[in-house]
Amino acid sequence: MAYPLITERLSIAPLAGADAAAFARYRQEPGVALYQSWSADFSEAAALSIVAGQPAGDLPGPGQWLQLGVHFRNGGRLLGDVAVHRLSEQPDTFELGVTFAGEHQGRGYATESMLALLGFLFDVHGAHRVLAHCDARNGAVAAVLRKAGLQQESRQVEADWFKGEWTTLDTYALLGREWPRGAARG
Ligand SMILES: CC(C)(COP(=O)(O)OP(=O)(O)OC[C@H]1O[C@@H](n2cnc3c(N)ncnc32)[C@H](O)[C@@H]1OP(=O)(O)O)[C@@H](O)C(=O)NCCC(=O)NCCS
Repeated sequence: MAYPLITERLSIAPLAGADAAAFARYRQEPGVALYQSWSADFSEAAALSIVAGQPAGDLPGPGQWLQLGVHFRNGGRLLGDVAVHRLSEQPDTFELGVTFAGEHQGRGYATESMLALLGFLFDVHGAHRVLAHCDARNGAVAAVLRKAGLQQESRQVEADWFKGEWTTLDTYALLGREWPRGAARG
């Protein structure tokens, strides 16, 4: 197995049972849940169920998600996660997600994790295209995606009925041929 992915400050590996409590705790933060599919009553049991259902192997199969936990290189509690989804309708195409506990935001960890994951997908696995969808109001994730090199490709205005209102969705993407080889290693 290729994990953990090691960066300057971080270690990234599939989410484990030991991460479930911290994972649930930050998913319960209202600011963290705001633009995400879950709500602030996300439970530790739901976290454990995600861990139990994780696909084996370095990357998920078509249609599956793999949730990777992010820790400091020297251990400690879970800081956040990056998630990777392999599209079933296109080969070599992956969707990413990223979430960090409020107390660990604003330090560049999300961008550092995203760059490591992009390097893994493009340099090691020869991915063709990586994309991310986000709520158009979610400026924090848009900044991370841009810093990681993704470009906005589309905006679907009021296209998604989400948490009781019509929301606008942006899609960002990066192609393997646009990826600066070695960027993840700085
Ligand atoms: C999206 C999310 C992960 C972004 O986290 P973040 O902490 O803002 O992103 P980063 O880790 O890259 O931090 C960026 C900021 O850290 C600061 N920073 C501090 N030290 C730094 C360092 N050593 N290196 C880089 N940036 C650093 C910078 O000021 C930077 O902001 P700037 O580029 O505007 O100057 C976070 O807002 C989140 O978890 N949101 C809730 C979940 C969510 O909505 N996810 C998206 C779903 S699509």
